[in-house]
Amino acid sequence: MNIIKTSIVLNRYLNTIRETNTKVTIGFIPTMGALHSGHTSLINASVKNNDITVCSIFVNPTQFGDSADLEKYPKPIEKDIEVLLKNECDVLFLPSNDTVYPNDYTQKSYDLNDLDLKIEGASRPGHFQGVCNVVGRFFEIVKPDNAYFGQKDYQQTVVVNRLIQITNSSVKLNVVPIKRESHGLAMSSRNIRLSEKGRQNAAFIYRSLVQLKEDISNLGLEQSVKKARQFIQAQKGAHVDYLLAVDSITLEPVKNMEDSKGIAVVTVVEYEGVRLLDNIILK
Ligand code: PAJ
Repeated sequence: MNIIKTSIVLNRYLNTIRETNTKVTIGFIPTMGALHSGHTSLINASVKNNDITVCSIFVNPTQFGDSADLEKYPKPIEKDIEVLLKNECDVLFLPSNDTVYPNDYTQKSYDLNDLDLKIEGASRPGHFQGVCNVVGRFFEIVKPDNAYFGQKDYQQTVVVNRLIQITNSSVKLNVVPIKRESHGLAMSSRNIRLSEKGRQNAAFIYRSLVQLKEDISNLGLEQSVKKARQFIQAQKGAHVDYLLAVDSITLEPVKNMEDSKGIAVVTVVEYEGVRLLDNIILK
């Protein structure tokens, strides 16, 4: 695996490959490191479907509202390199802040049709604009054919889809299903903050989403959502930040299954002081 730290070297490397084989396909996975099996499922999807896989590790300051959170972000780079090697990644792009945001770079304000202000965006001002700036920069630098994002961050996939559209990018967005622990909790670097028992118990979030999907034929969407919310809220120590059925393009709330072509239920549950994100695609 090549570890490349500057965009000039990465460009040179990828251009040489493209010149020798015009049909080569490049898959790209942007990450912030601290890699777990959720990330490796994205890498595996890229390795399977592309000639070259590039993974970036960059803790992007522009998507953090709180600088303390940014400082605290784990950076186990040696371990991450081992994970990437084991999963046959071809290139690790490990840029500095100056490489991603050179002096002449001004942060862009993308017209995201308010997707950045809804759901997660409501409590994290500027977060999705920050994501779009870094993803936009990476797309410029790597010029991948395929980009891999996790369904785990559902709103992020909807926002990136919009970014690709409004920038007329030729990158194909591939959304990889949520990787879960054996009991059902969605994998996340935050899970280590849960107690062992809490980690087992937190599977009630996924169970309630699966139950919700099953309930729809009898109860309808609105009542099934309400029931799931009540079920989670009734678990000791759990607080539902939100649990909503939303349209897959606009992220507007949906009440009936017939109202939209694509619908997902997105939720954030606070449990043992940790914000746990999960979702299920209904249609
Ligand atoms: P990060 O949190 O490191 O996540 C990188 C990618 O891994 C995202 O696309 C995320 O959805 C995916 N992922 C995380 N947990 C997953 C799971 N359990 N199953 C499947 N995929 C999972 O998301 C970011 O970084 C940043 O916002 C980034 C896109 C890199 C921009 O800075």
